[in-house]
Amino acid sequence: PTIYCITPTYARPTQKADLTRLCQTLQHVWNFHWIIVEDSEYKTGLVSRFLERCGVTYTHFAVRTSPHLRRKSKSPRWHVPRGMEQRNKGLQWVRRNFDPKRMKGVVYFADDDNTYDVEIFRKMRETKAVSIWPVGFVGGLRWEGPVCQNNTIIDFRVAYKPNREIPVDMAGFAVNAKLVVNNPHLKFNPNSVDIGHSESEFLTMVTSKDTIEPLGDLCNKVLVWHTRTSPARLHREAVLNGKSFPDLEC
Ligand code: UGA
Ligand code: MN
Repeated sequence: PTIYCITPTYARPTQKADLTRLCQTLQHVWNFHWIIVEDSEYKTGLVSRFLERCGVTYTHFAVRTSPHLRRKSKSPRWHVPRGMEQRNKGLQWVRRNFDPKRMKGVVYFADDDNTYDVEIFRKMRETKAVSIWPVGFVGGLRWEGPVCQNNTIIDFRVAYKPNREIPVDMAGFAVNAKLVVNNPHLKFNPNSVDIGHSESEFLTMVTSKDTIEPLGDLCNKVLVWHTRTSPARLHREAVLNGKSFPDLEC
């Protein structure tokens, strides 16, 4: 099966560094299609040039987050959901381009700042309907995710909003592309009022705690980490004001 990997991305000082790291991971993955959706009114030069150089097969879109969902500069980052309209754009592309009658595929949502072991991309190809696995450094824990015995989920290691029907981070599941096409209503709700429930609300449209699939020994391995790049400190840029240096893309 082909992996259709949907990545929202937005402009900030560390964007190119994050995308470069992700690209160089994805270069090791075969049979892979990267759907990269910029949170922007237009496709930026930086991301367009980056994708050309990256060498991974891709489709490039730009969808600006609706004004009422943009983060007010003073409110904490977790007050608004991020990347939802962008992921929905990616799902729309899958619906228009994936033909379940003659293709096999798996959809994965990869944020641009996480850390991925290439092994996760091998394992997720086995996804029959919806699969799940542990994610490192999420929900206030070293790892959050399913606990398995004999390839069955017997428990979840979860502390953040444990009442979520399916407690999982965006990086911890994959969906068979056939299911995406056959369930046209399957989308993220960017207006959801239940903060932290986006993944669970999405997944419960097509699966449940009892039917979601663990992927063999994946249950006992952390192969993806919810890492975050600390903001670049650029406070000394002002010191150089007035001096002329080449304007390097960074
Ligand atoms: C956590 C989850 O891991 C995300 O999958 C989820 O979208 C997010 O919370 C949420 O619920 O809003 P976190 O690390 O806090 O993620 O968020 P970011 O990494 O800042 O953003 C997630 C993705 O959305 C990234 O790929 C980022 O580039 C993109 N994003 C972020 C935008 O497209 N626009 C923004 O304004 C901010
Ligand atoms: Mn992140």
